[in-house]
Amino acid sequence: MDRIRIVGRRPLQGTIRISGAKNATLPLMIASMLTDQTLILDNVPRLADVNLLQRILGNHGVDIMVSGKRPGETALDGQTLHISAANIVDTTAPYELVSKMRASFWVIAPLVARMGEARVSMPGGCAIGTRPVDLLILALERLGAQIEIDGGYVVARAPNGLKGGEISFPKVTVSGTHTALMAAALADGETLIENAAREPEIADVAECLNKMGARIVGAGTERIVVTGVPKLNGARHRVLPDRIETGTYAMAVAMTSGDVVLEGARPELLQAALDVLGEAGVGIAKTNEGIRVTKNGTGIAPVEITTQPFPGFPTDLQAQLMALMTRANGTSHITETIFENRFMHVQELVRLGAHIHLDGEKATIEGVEKLKGAPVMATDLRASVSLVIAALAAEGVTMVNRVYHLDRGFERLEDKLSGCGAAIERISG
Ligand code: UD1
Repeated sequence: MDRIRIVGRRPLQGTIRISGAKNATLPLMIASMLTDQTLILDNVPRLADVNLLQRILGNHGVDIMVSGKRPGETALDGQTLHISAANIVDTTAPYELVSKMRASFWVIAPLVARMGEARVSMPGGCAIGTRPVDLLILALERLGAQIEIDGGYVVARAPNGLKGGEISFPKVTVSGTHTALMAAALADGETLIENAAREPEIADVAECLNKMGARIVGAGTERIVVTGVPKLNGARHRVLPDRIETGTYAMAVAMTSGDVVLEGARPELLQAALDVLGEAGVGIAKTNEGIRVTKNGTGIAPVEITTQPFPGFPTDLQAQLMALMTRANGTSHITETIFENRFMHVQELVRLGAHIHLDGEKATIEGVEKLKGAPVMATDLRASVSLVIAALAAEGVTMVNRVYHLDRGFERLEDKLSGCGAAIERISG
């Protein structure tokens, strides 16, 4: 198993190119199953999760061709996928695959919408809480699908096609909103989605679906109206930049008192997080290339935040902010409202010398003057990268074990950081 070795206390300086968003790429790849024509996706990040979803879609008969490099292109550019679901050969998504990546459960929507049936394994527990699928099922039921739970599988049937309906989510859910959008795109008649998730990735998927011939209005707001069409076409779409990767590197720069341009980043995708960094004393400026993040040596001011659905402070940046606040000049408070048990990074940060007290969904972080390198263990995707951020400011050597979590969501993390002067290397095996 690969490990990452970091020697801390070097300021990050230079440019980091922001990749395409993982959380848009996955549903976009899944949406390709709504049409028998080719969907071309540009700016797709090279991530373990993307490779795994390629395998999962392959199991349903989807062909994916990765374009070769074009002249002038470098390894820094995202890849282009040509995805063709001309023939769906299997409407079952087995446990062995779905349990490896929760988002693959979302194939249930295009399968039942286009094929009239789907048999998809329930994803099972995962490291950050129970993460149920009841609201995805609710959305499909509102569109007329008959649902049965059978041997750990959700079986959805709509032999005569889905029908438009009203879906009012009792809780804001990204997965539920993606499912509702994909299913409603091919349903007969109009669907109203209320209390929809407003995450930029929802709007990006809706934009792509509209290019494919869908009729979706209001994506990115809490009220989405979808007028179903009988058939969708192929299209070409460029994945939007990854706001979580952007925020992560911004916090890494702040942590090391650095000066870095995050190339291709779009501030409006993470304004809440940038505002919090501003409060903490970090310089944030929009430039022609993206976002410039600067931090002088005057220390980090403590902050108080609560994670919220978009446009609030994202849960996917909670661990990284906590790492930054371990070195603040005072006490910070972070409340996690989206996922229970999303504090696995706390014990590992404590191993590096952080002072953190947990009380249910609230964490109190007392800033310390120094962190000290130690061996730590990556647990989930965002937790792992918080350890990297802490290690960049820690004295001496930190060894991050189990880095496969990082490879799921961060493209060439060690290259991007070492390109800006960090002493970071991957140790294979
Ligand atoms: C997506 C993101 C993830 C991010 C999360 C919240 C992807 C691939 N993943 O996850 O990175 O952390 O949004 O921004 O885009 N819930 C239910 N029942 C359901 C579905 C969800 O109770 O049927 C609950 C969840 O347990 C959680 C909350 O709703 O407490 C939000 O979950 P959701 O927005 O659906 O997150 P994901 O789409 O799984």
